[in-house]
Amino acid sequence: MAFTIAIDGPAAAGKGTIGRAVAAHFGFAHLDTGLLYRATGRRMVQGLDAVEAAQSLQASDLEADDLRTPEVGQAASRVAAIPEVRAALVDFQRAFARRSGGAVLDGRDIGTVICPDAEVKLYVTAGDDERARRRHKELCEKGHEVTVEEVLDDLRTRDARDSARATAPLKPADDAILLDTSAMSIEAAVQAAIDLVTKGLATA
Ligand code: DC
Repeated sequence: MAFTIAIDGPAAAGKGTIGRAVAAHFGFAHLDTGLLYRATGRRMVQGLDAVEAAQSLQASDLEADDLRTPEVGQAASRVAAIPEVRAALVDFQRAFARRSGGAVLDGRDIGTVICPDAEVKLYVTAGDDERARRRHKELCEKGHEVTVEEVLDDLRTRDARDSARATAPLKPADDAILLDTSAMSIEAAVQAAIDLVTKGLATA
């Protein structure tokens, strides 16, 4: 059976780490859908039309190593508000979700728009300061010179834009299970997610 797990939530809430770990645990494939918007945003920054960039996106574009910078994140959030960009990326995501063997997709609109029939939907959150602290640590480890305040500002700007857009805004699906990881270690958050998915799949 091709189970689909949808993981949504604001920026730097731990969706990627949780998505990867849940996929590994169940032997499912994992797609970080933020990379689709990041790759599109990066090409827009390079001067390409955002809609054409989304329409011509190749799987290999998702492997570029500079996709996880704050600048590309902001560009991703901006192109993500363009309905034609989102439309161009729907088929790829739905085909991924339907692959045999199961799939975990993380993003902003997986449970609401891309996979409304997903067997399990998680909405992962953490407080602003905690998210900024985690992302700051991650960026510093990669050699980026940013302050926690700059990271916090970056997350809040993106979350506000992602939540306010007309098409597929960031919000929990009605049937999503909320997982607040503010007071949890990464290991505890991953375990909590695996437990929730295990329970959800048992009743699917
Ligand atoms: O998950 P991320 O931080 O890498 O995503 C970067 C941006 O892409 C995010 O600010 C909004 C957009 N995005 C989206 O609109 N829908 C998704 N399913 C995933 C990401």
